[in-house]
Amino acid sequence: MTEPPTETALQKAAEHIQAGRLVAFPTETVYGLGADATNAEAVAAIFSAKERPSFNPLIIHVASAEAAERLVVFDDRATVLAEANWPGALTLVLPRREDCPVSRLAGAGLDTLALRVPAHVLAQQFLDAVGVPIAAPSANRSGTVSPTTADHVRESLGNGVDMIIDDGPCQIGLESTIVDLTTDTPTLLRAGGVTVELLERQIGEIQSTTDDDTAPKAPGMLSRHYATSIPLRMDAMELRDGEAMLAFGGRTLGPAPASCNLSRGGDVKEAAANLFDMMRQLDKPEYSGIAVMEIPETGLGRAINDRLRRASR
Ligand code: TXA
Ligand code: MG
Repeated sequence: MTEPPTETALQKAAEHIQAGRLVAFPTETVYGLGADATNAEAVAAIFSAKERPSFNPLIIHVASAEAAERLVVFDDRATVLAEANWPGALTLVLPRREDCPVSRLAGAGLDTLALRVPAHVLAQQFLDAVGVPIAAPSANRSGTVSPTTADHVRESLGNGVDMIIDDGPCQIGLESTIVDLTTDTPTLLRAGGVTVELLERQIGEIQSTTDDDTAPKAPGMLSRHYATSIPLRMDAMELRDGEAMLAFGGRTLGPAPASCNLSRGGDVKEAAANLFDMMRQLDKPEYSGIAVMEIPETGLGRAINDRLRRASR
């Protein structure tokens, strides 16, 4: 499963990614756990492997700033930061393009995406070989430290990953710096491989978040998350007047003005892949609310329920 960084390994990695499987790869910061960002089921597999109790948005890795501009809308600050720091240890949060093919799950339902162009030679070759944007969090189980060697990845994720490309220890060994450019004054979301002082010399003031900005924001702690504009009700046993239905499994609550099924087969991974798209589909003013059927608290079911709970407040 662990392979040295050869041409054959890169080809194999590309086949895994095309098949919706997970590949751990080195970047100059830490090892990433990569999947095709446009494939929601593959992205769901990332959350499942990390055993994360909630969905937090993932960094989308691309080979160049041009590739990034096809996914998100750049402003002048983004152009300056990208030219000065990419490829490198900087992640930029920008608004999604209307036609952005990245799955909603990868961005945890947000209208923004975090983009990064890594400098690591093998990471670049990997991104070229796969030809799709790669969603990748650090390749460790949730709540453990980020991996800076292939051994760390293997110890932390074990069989949760289909392939690990081993290209030795990461040079920086610290995650990328994350700057949110969707606020009037750019906001530092995480300190990391590139210093804020350097970035401020390039674009001026960068504000800190009010909480501890040296630590990555805890999963689900992002102040902004996708909330429906109409009421959402969990564990619904019946339909109320005018409610749209978000079903799970083979049952139904009866005829609804609109309905979606997260997974007819009762598969929580499939449900996770569909969650944000279906929430958006049913979030229409013509319905009185969204009735969501009970989803088991197993595997990704916990993360789904966590997100629904936030949306139901
Ligand atoms: O160095 C790194 O950044 C590594 C390598 C693999 O690229 N990746 C990494 O990913 O550290 P992860 O998932 O462990 O941390 C990503 C952070 C999360 O804390 C998340 O909240 C934030 O990025 N993030 C991602 N998308 C976001 C968005 N649209 N808005 C705000 N924060 C976002
Ligand atoms: Mg991490």
